[in-house]
Amino acid sequence: MNSNSIPVITIDGPSGSGKGTLARALADRLGWSLLDSGALYRIIGAQCLSRGINFDDETAVADLAQVLDIRFVGTAVWVEGLNMTEEIRTEDAGVNASRVAHWPAVRDAVLGLQRSFLQAPGLIADGRDMGTVVFPDAALKFFLDASAQERAERRYKQLKNKGLSVSLRGLLEQIQERDARDRERAVAPLKPARDALVVDSTSMSIELVLEEVMAEVSKRGLNLVQ
Ligand code: DC
Repeated sequence: MNSNSIPVITIDGPSGSGKGTLARALADRLGWSLLDSGALYRIIGAQCLSRGINFDDETAVADLAQVLDIRFVGTAVWVEGLNMTEEIRTEDAGVNASRVAHWPAVRDAVLGLQRSFLQAPGLIADGRDMGTVVFPDAALKFFLDASAQERAERRYKQLKNKGLSVSLRGLLEQIQERDARDRERAVAPLKPARDALVVDSTSMSIELVLEEVMAEVSKRGLNLVQ
């Protein structure tokens, strides 16, 4: 199978919409590879911090993005031989990711790496611009949305369950700020591709979202790709 005929399903949407969970569940069900593109921007943000690179220095951030040795092993993320799986999952890491991600040169620097995840039998690509920029010819595109209030509440429960003390209002403000930066940037802003199916998960369980998405996948015979 040449890479042009390997199918891609893109799942874009704002933070906390459930797309990460959905993308992993879909990749498991279909036995396809998974690209968590947000993790790449989180890694770049975290590495800028530890190396003292200013988020506002587009060239320095892009130069760094080009040389980092990044490996995904199952659910673990290794960078320059260090396990960064937990470190990149914090709220701050998400905010820093969004700050480095608005630079065009940084996005260009990770384009090839993102496309290299395309492997038979197929790829599930999770992010903000998977259907609009990185895989515009994807076989199927979803845009998973949910109200900011609902996304903040979901995150609040997750963090509480981990024993962390957080404020719901603070989380909501952070989500709204990050949404605005991701939606309003000039390059590859967060928005549904013209041919994306928009799913509003505000009052849906992740199981229900997965069933709805699987129905679309089956309708197109993508569940039969070997
Ligand atoms: O999906 P996430 O929360 O891990 O993403 C973290 C940030 O990275 C997000 O706020 C914006 C940025 N991002 C992006 O600009 N493009 C992507 N394809 C994925 C993430």
